[in-house]
Amino acid sequence: MAGLGIVPLGSAVGARITGIDLREAVAPDTEASLRAAFTDHSLLCFPGQKISAPDQIRFAAIFGRADGGYRPPSASLATTNTTRGVMLVSNIRKNGRQIGSLPDGEMQFHSDGAHRTVPYRATTLFAIRIPSRGGNTLFANLAAAYAALPEGRKRWLDGKRALHVYNYDSVTRDLIDETRRDLSSAVHPLVGVHPDSGRPALYLSRLMTCEILDVEPGESASVLEELFDHAEKPEFVYEHRWTPGDLVVWDNRCLNHARTDFPPDEDRLLRRYTISEPEAAEEETGRCRNS
Ligand code: SIN
Repeated sequence: MAGLGIVPLGSAVGARITGIDLREAVAPDTEASLRAAFTDHSLLCFPGQKISAPDQIRFAAIFGRADGGYRPPSASLATTNTTRGVMLVSNIRKNGRQIGSLPDGEMQFHSDGAHRTVPYRATTLFAIRIPSRGGNTLFANLAAAYAALPEGRKRWLDGKRALHVYNYDSVTRDLIDETRRDLSSAVHPLVGVHPDSGRPALYLSRLMTCEILDVEPGESASVLEELFDHAEKPEFVYEHRWTPGDLVVWDNRCLNHARTDFPPDEDRLLRRYTISEPEAAEEETGRCRNS
């Protein structure tokens, strides 16, 4: 489409999209170009946007079923934002209460919704207030990581499944290991084939993947450690340094993300909507999930 710029963000993953104002409805041919770019790059960044929450939901719906109707994630958020489905990612407190979720500091690599039977297809995140340093989001390309594995490890992974667990607002796996019996969890294949690109990708993360099923616990732990380290190698990772007005959409089926530390006395505020698979609807009924 004339005017739409699509420029890769680096060698690992992602593209920067220019020439579009997402306050306005997107024409069908442009939507098709954006979906194709999403399949090719797995992450799209639209800098300089000035979008409202409804604009962000409309944008999210280009890529699937925008999750506009089943949370707020915290009681405090309900009083600060009346748009259903929005999740604020923020360390800001008002009257001692968080206004959003996933508030402070570093977060280990994870994939949104891996603890659900049907994980989120994609996530959109819009930067509103950003600290002077840190709070960057790292995106790891799990298809590239899989492709780079030795053939023997690929064969070993064939048909293997793993347990994924999530603890509300946790940012490292320590708490999960202690309390996992009570937590929301799901089992998924360790390698998934992307339905649009056809590329196989690892599906595991340091924050949420606890155990490979049907192997000895010691082997499960050592293979997971090996794969976490492999999937987080710098050559597979793009580090996004946020500027207010950046809107990023990423594909949870083939990317993990993590967050770097940032000063606790500086505000960080982003607005998040997830995008679900069509078959996820019944899992959401009556639920309230954050990651
Ligand atoms: C998230 O995991 O969805 C939050 C990422 C971030 O705060 O950068």
